[in-house]
Amino acid sequence: MTGRRITVIHGPNLRLLGRREPEIYGTATLEAVNAALWSLAEELGVALETFQSNHEGEILDHLESVATRTDGFLVNAAGLTHTSVALRDGLLGVGRPFVEVHLSNTAARESFRHTSLLAPVAAGVVYGFGLQSYLLGLRGLVAHLHDRARSGAPHD
Ligand code: DQA
Repeated sequence: MTGRRITVIHGPNLRLLGRREPEIYGTATLEAVNAALWSLAEELGVALETFQSNHEGEILDHLESVATRTDGFLVNAAGLTHTSVALRDGLLGVGRPFVEVHLSNTAARESFRHTSLLAPVAAGVVYGFGLQSYLLGLRGLVAHLHDRARSGAPHD
């Protein structure tokens, strides 16, 4: 499959990857995560752009501004996952499927991380595999877009 366009959204504090709690999040930097995603995107024949922000409003603005050139989102919303009704509404509002990913196994951590406001409206979720969560999530999202196209789902 070719021609699909994916936007990756990295939420707050993910710029610190590599030195932020490495025992939980691993030692890969955000640049390394993005490089691995670029390489897989090339293999899968999809176009990929990435965005990171520590600011909820900036993420919402970005979703809106790229939606018309994006077929699906790969989202690690970090702490916003557990708190942001606005991000959930924004993702629903732009009308593009998304896959939620997390480096850590949030279900095995503090109870406030057990709830995701995004998961119930995501196409799928992947968590607990470190950098691989992103790569598995990208594969899942691309397969999901492919299946949707085959089943004739409307798309603008
Ligand atoms: C995270 C998990 C979140 O609970 C946390 O707030 C993060 C990172 C992860 O990738 O494991 O910032 O999204």
